[in-house]
Amino acid sequence: MKRLNSQLQEDGAPMELILLLRTLLAGCKEISFRVSQGALAGVLGSTLSENVQGETQKKLDVISNQILKDILSESGYVKAISSEEEDDVVPCNPNGNYLVSFDPLDGSSNTDINSLIGTIFSITHAPQWMDADDPSAFLQPGTQIVAAGYVLYGPSAMLALSTGRGTHLYTLDKTHGGFLLTQKDVQVPKQTSEFAINASNQRHWEDPVQDYIGDLIAGEDGPRGKDFNMRWVAAMVGDIHRVLSRGGIFMYPFDKRNPEMPGKLRLLYEANPMAFLMEQAGGLASTGQGRILEVMPTEIHQRVPVILGSKEEVETCLTYYKA
Ligand code: AHG
Ligand code: MN
Ligand code: MN
Repeated sequence: MKRLNSQLQEDGAPMELILLLRTLLAGCKEISFRVSQGALAGVLGSTLSENVQGETQKKLDVISNQILKDILSESGYVKAISSEEEDDVVPCNPNGNYLVSFDPLDGSSNTDINSLIGTIFSITHAPQWMDADDPSAFLQPGTQIVAAGYVLYGPSAMLALSTGRGTHLYTLDKTHGGFLLTQKDVQVPKQTSEFAINASNQRHWEDPVQDYIGDLIAGEDGPRGKDFNMRWVAAMVGDIHRVLSRGGIFMYPFDKRNPEMPGKLRLLYEANPMAFLMEQAGGLASTGQGRILEVMPTEIHQRVPVILGSKEEVETCLTYYKA
């Protein structure tokens, strides 16, 4: 089976980017190990602190963030990082050539029920002009991403990674410690009969989402003329892995709960990396108003509505927004 290094070279990734990715993934392997120890190592449960998003941090949120922060800061390749669990940009090496944004542990409410969780990341070039503590360099649209991926800590630890030459899946061989290529050039099926949305928010949705989901639920008795199935992992990384693997549409749309919060998911740490992987696998990713990767960020912790997955199903969903 092909190793990660060989595939990255075949895809034409520059050596420094390959070294950075290997460093980042060494951190993810450590997170995978820490996660797997669970109650034996006392890593489950919450801390007493909140992150900048106003969410109570799980112990594993803090541990995972620290592991990635340490390994990336010490690597020398990185000028600065931004993280869901950090209030501000973290300056690293002033001469580093890359910026890394990450959600150190996605779906962390699942830690206490031994369910799917993961790490999501994206990498861009660091502009020469920026100071390492200047957040403005992170305010680039997702079209500038040079590599994005996630590691899913599930029954197997799996990596989905793209450097802009397709999305590939790798499985962590825990006996040798390497990520081995297990699916090259993933293609998301264009059609689907599976959707993912947190239906408990239904009363807060806007009309296009009400109408679209209503038609899916109406099944073969409704205008779609076929039955749909629903899945919700409560970890975007788990839902997106399923969509990449067998198709589907995943939505965390704008809702009317809090006008200050246009959606729940974070542009830099969740929406952009997943949109990049999805587009590289032949899928689509939209806010409902436009392509996620073209959103110009105004602040690092910005949230956006997310609709992504199988191309034709996302296109169908978007027709409800234009109606
Ligand atoms: P995080 O654990 O990094 O805060 O992310 C959780 C996110 C995302 O992974 C998931 O799709 C969504 O929140 C789940 O939201 P609900 O609580 O509405 O299910
Ligand atoms: Mn998350
Ligand atoms: Mn998180």
